[in-house]
Amino acid sequence: WKWNEASRYPGVTVADKEGDWERCIRDSTGVVNLAGMPISTRWSPEIKREILQSRVNVTSKVVDHINSSDSSNGNGPSVFVSATAVGYYGTSETDSFDESSPSGNDYLAHVCREWEGRARQVKQEHVRLVLIRIGVVLGKDGGALAKMIPLFMMFAGGPLGTGRQWSTLLLLLLSSSSLLGSR
Ligand SMILES: NC(=O)c1ccc[n+]([C@@H]2O[C@H](COP(=O)([O-])OP(=O)(O)OC[C@H]3O[C@@H](n4cnc5c(N)ncnc54)[C@H](OP(=O)(O)O)[C@@H]3O)[C@@H](O)[C@H]2O)c1
Repeated sequence: WKWNEASRYPGVTVADKEGDWERCIRDSTGVVNLAGMPISTRWSPEIKREILQSRVNVTSKVVDHINSSDSSNGNGPSVFVSATAVGYYGTSETDSFDESSPSGNDYLAHVCREWEGRARQVKQEHVRLVLIRIGVVLGKDGGALAKMIPLFMMFAGGPLGTGRQWSTLLLLLLSSSSLLGSR
């Protein structure tokens, strides 16, 4: 998504250059971490490693900066919102899941556990941690829908899989406003 557009919101700084992270985090009241290599690609062993590492490495660095920003003195952020995904739960055709459900056994569940594990290393006595397990976000400018629309426009669209399975969907408007609204 075009997260750079988030900088249009008053008080929001998009720190997409690693060299800016330390200063931006130290001067912030809250941090939102959305980094991660896209998963909508062919999953070779190298790509799977990169999908995991891109999330774990960025989250670790962000957590280190937050932990050294000394939030206990009123400096640095008081909330850390870190993305993760509904992939945490694995899949089932019959079960439903909520926040208390255990994690699944597949690759994406493993990625989400590692990713969340790094975020949990933030000093939570000073900084409130919000882990958002995001479902498939639908918006016309990116993600799954933007890939599907051209196919449907060429009359080449069709059901995903059997078309009978359930899927978790989220509108971009809802996900971005809940991210920016976290206190
Ligand atoms: N979109 C969804 O449906 C969905 C569903 C569940 C969870 N999520 C999670 O929510 C987060 C945001 O999703 P999104 O769709 O907005 O993702 P996105 O548009 O692909 O943006 C992800 C961000 O991660 C950065 N990034 C890409 N490859 C990277 C790498 N190898 N190392 C470090 N950073 C890298 C990107 O930087 P550049 O722009 O410079 O490439 C971008 O800033 C992601 O972590 C994603 O896993 C998304």
